[in-house]
Amino acid sequence: MTIDNSRSGSTNLGRRDFLKKSVLATAGMTLAGGLGVARSAHAAGSDTIKIALVGCGGRGTGAAINALQTRANVKLVAMADAFKDSLDQSLATIRKQCKDRVEVPADRQFTGLDAYQRAIDSDVGMVLLCTPPGFRPRHFEAAVKAGKHVFMEKPLATDTPGLRRIQAANAEAKRKNLAVAVGHHLRHEVKHREIVRRIHDGQLGDLTFLRVYFNSGGLWIRPRQPGQTEMQYQVRNWYYFTWLCGDHILEQHVHDLDVGNWIAQTHPIEAQGMGGRQVRVGREVGEIFDHHTVEFTYANGLKMFSYCRHIPGCWEAFSEHAHGTKGVADIQGYGPAVMKIAGQRPIRLRQGPDGHQVEMDDLMAAIVAGQPYNEADWAAESTMTGIMGRIATYSGKIVTWDDAMASEVDLTPKNLAWNSPTLVNPGPDGCYPCAIPGVTKAL
Ligand SMILES: NC(=O)c1ccc[n+]([C@@H]2O[C@H](COP(=O)([O-])OP(=O)(O)OC[C@H]3O[C@@H](n4cnc5c(N)ncnc54)[C@H](O)[C@@H]3O)[C@@H](O)[C@H]2O)c1
Repeated sequence: MTIDNSRSGSTNLGRRDFLKKSVLATAGMTLAGGLGVARSAHAAGSDTIKIALVGCGGRGTGAAINALQTRANVKLVAMADAFKDSLDQSLATIRKQCKDRVEVPADRQFTGLDAYQRAIDSDVGMVLLCTPPGFRPRHFEAAVKAGKHVFMEKPLATDTPGLRRIQAANAEAKRKNLAVAVGHHLRHEVKHREIVRRIHDGQLGDLTFLRVYFNSGGLWIRPRQPGQTEMQYQVRNWYYFTWLCGDHILEQHVHDLDVGNWIAQTHPIEAQGMGGRQVRVGREVGEIFDHHTVEFTYANGLKMFSYCRHIPGCWEAFSEHAHGTKGVADIQGYGPAVMKIAGQRPIRLRQGPDGHQVEMDDLMAAIVAGQPYNEADWAAESTMTGIMGRIATYSGKIVTWDDAMASEVDLTPKNLAWNSPTLVNPGPDGCYPCAIPGVTKAL
């Protein structure tokens, strides 16, 4: 059986109906009860939702375009980035695609490490928080304090103290009836929703185990420039520093870990694993590992086997797999999903509409309708799952959820200015120290 969801969802719904249904579905699966979303997103006397973008890199630029391409009347009016060249490039790209929805004059283009606050304080109803995740807790706290609706990228933090700040700010966001969306686009992919619905309906029987993968060849390096402070270098090369990125088990693989938790309908209670750096060596690659393998255990004994790798020339995969007593579901991050049940013809779902656009359609439609919308509770659990996995691979020890949640290991420097000292620094050979399992105390 093949269901064609390539245009508008798993049935032949038009885009408008699909949008309405997906908003209702999302609202239903997020916040139970509560009042409607505050209408403060709209400028007085108009239906325009004014937004600010904080973090104008690849994803921030994409998220802003997604927001401007929803059916809601959205205008981008302020932007903030640590670096002017990133902001300029992003603004040019967004203008090219959404010209009439961009009003960002020079005095609403903010740069520097405190630029986020000035963008949040602009006359906007909503902010898109798309910097490296190490900054997310302080940016989210500031946005909630200022009463703004939020779209924020995953992961939500890089360490447990940061995660607890996210949870506290999210409780405040709920009290203020603010909409909070998180960039877990797979939760908005039609094929993911349909397969997970079927699993929750019991079509696979009892779950026996889960497998999740994010294996790729790695990514960009931004070489050190003359005159850069160490802080500037690390923020430019954020991916390679755990306080900024969380390591790729968190930054990328959190997508798959989140799908595992979604299928299991909870978070794991324990993790043990191994990881290291086989080919990621040298001065330009900071401190993160290039591979992690973790066995996560849920309270009911279910196991999730997790694999992520940044090594070129190897097998690549971005996928989630659920095994049950009656069959198996194989879900590609980008690509089809297939459910095979013994004795039946396989169910094959095509890729469908881009989850990045659908997640923003869902958020904006909820804001316009004044409906409750909050994705940060389960997203925080998924972020914490990645943090717990990293604690397990860095330490080589068995780690429980409770111990990981109680951790006071704070990776972020207290002062964040371009000349502030950094907590991780290169040794005499120019290389950064990295975790050594069996030696490193990651809790
Ligand atoms: N949901 C998805 O599919 C997806 C895809 C890619 C990235 N992401 C997430 O989006 C976030 C950004 O990733 P990216 O690929 O766009 O990275 P990027 O390096 O392209 O962009 C990050 C931007 O943030 C800016 N920045 C850094 N620190 C800042 C600060 N303190 N204040 C303001 N700006 C700051 C940088 O200068 C840069 O322009 C990450 O959390 C990443 O995990 C999500």
